[in-house]
Amino acid sequence: MRKLDLAQALAEAFGHLEANRVGEAKRLARDLERAQPSLPGLRYLQGLVAMAEGDGRKAAQSLAKALAQTPDAVPPLLAMARAQALQQRHGPAEMAYLRLIALSPALAEAYDELGALYLACGRMEAAVGSLDRATTVRPKGAGAWYRLGIAQRSLGHWEAAARSFAQTIAVDDKHAKAYASLAGVLRRLKRASESVGVARQAVRLEPAEASHWLELGQAEREGGDLDAAVAAFREVMRLASDDIEALWLSAECLNALGRQDDAVAAYRRVLAQDPADRFGAALALAQCGALPPPGEASPTFIRTLFDQYADGFDRDLVEGLNYRGPAILIDAIGRTLGSGPFDAFDVGCGTGLLGVGLRPMTGRLDGVDLSPRMIAKARERRLYDELGEGDLVTALNRRPAAYDLVAAADVLIYLGDLRAVFEAAAAALRDGGGFAFTVEAHKGDGYVLLESRRFAHSLSYLRQQAVAAGFVSLLQEETATRDDRGQPVPGYVVVMRKTTSAPSRS
Ligand SMILES: C[S@@+](CC[C@H](N)C(=O)[O-])C[C@H]1O[C@@H](n2cnc3c(N)ncnc32)[C@H](O)[C@@H]1O
Repeated sequence: MRKLDLAQALAEAFGHLEANRVGEAKRLARDLERAQPSLPGLRYLQGLVAMAEGDGRKAAQSLAKALAQTPDAVPPLLAMARAQALQQRHGPAEMAYLRLIALSPALAEAYDELGALYLACGRMEAAVGSLDRATTVRPKGAGAWYRLGIAQRSLGHWEAAARSFAQTIAVDDKHAKAYASLAGVLRRLKRASESVGVARQAVRLEPAEASHWLELGQAEREGGDLDAAVAAFREVMRLASDDIEALWLSAECLNALGRQDDAVAAYRRVLAQDPADRFGAALALAQCGALPPPGEASPTFIRTLFDQYADGFDRDLVEGLNYRGPAILIDAIGRTLGSGPFDAFDVGCGTGLLGVGLRPMTGRLDGVDLSPRMIAKARERRLYDELGEGDLVTALNRRPAAYDLVAAADVLIYLGDLRAVFEAAAAALRDGGGFAFTVEAHKGDGYVLLESRRFAHSLSYLRQQAVAAGFVSLLQEETATRDDRGQPVPGYVVVMRKTTSAPSRS
């Protein structure tokens, strides 16, 4: 081929690529390789062809050759960053994008794609920074606004996320996912009625998308229209027949509507579909009188519940519900057992709020919790010598006579029958050791399952269990560890001491 022909063929090949005719482009690239392998632009073309075929590794090889010829050329560098990202080589991709930004600070794609990369590897703060820049450089980029909203949402920056999703819609009013995401964030911000309207837009734009109907159902439920919510959940189940979340939410709405038989049937279907019971259907069925009350909430339900809460737990509980269980328990321990130092086990330690008060009075401080995400939060505090994931009874039984203090702040409310807990606490304590805990108060006998689906225990029941497991009571006082709808939730704070010889149970 003559020089002119070569240049023409190269331009033609790029044209084919642009028009998505990858085969044609590839054929021309092969001809050009045979005619003049060092032709400027050829390696870049080959890199783009490989990218179009989804072969990131081959693309990176060609692009490396292109960049060896022209190290500061923006198009091959952008293609290289994409080739690395395609191979999930996050480090080299990040380097390439950062170099690109240094070379071309107004290149919106670079900020946007770097932000998407950070999103994919969970670096949310960095994602927000990069996507924020992308939207400043190119305010009309709906994708960048949407991704910015996703990153802000995952950081719990609800107001900012709402603004970003609204901006996405302002740029592209057909962006159904942005409507659905905005609806979810508005619900979170307790702006339920706005959320309904926005969710309706999502289903109008993409009526076959089950997740939009799920969002609409939740918005309707929180907006108080339970019949509309049930109808939306029915639509989810029509589109995605095995959607257990819609089935569960529908059961909850039917229950609230007083349609007990329909609710029980739906709860039963949930439990049949998920015998590990992550939604707590057995508790709901017990409340409806359709099953005997279980001895405890299902561990899968507890794990799911607290994994969901983990990120906002400290803020929501302490600020939202005025949670003060740890301070109440620390005070009771100080008044009865003294200031230590104790070897202590914080069972159901959650995010470690109790550990903050316990640490100064402990030699060794261990913690256990069912929820891995709560444990991860507790680990960030660097207070505990050992933190384990699992059930507290099992964990206590594994450590015979290892502790001077076992403490449980707002944990036993998820268990009804406390016999195994008392026995396990006695086994884990040294003689004379203390067992300190809070519970919700039941004024009758035994224990009951409350409407909140937590358990409440009577003082007589606690006394009975204590004696049977070999404890003497040091303190039992009325208290309230948190508020519910502005009212203190009645409870007890209890401290017991293990006696030297525990009686055997009959
Ligand atoms: C309301 S939070 C209290 C957390 C912490 N004690 C505090 O005061 O901040 C209850 C915690 O108990 C945990 N939990 C409930 N039942 C449990 C069990 N059987 N074994 C271990 N952890 C349990 C939950 O996962 C959750 O983290």
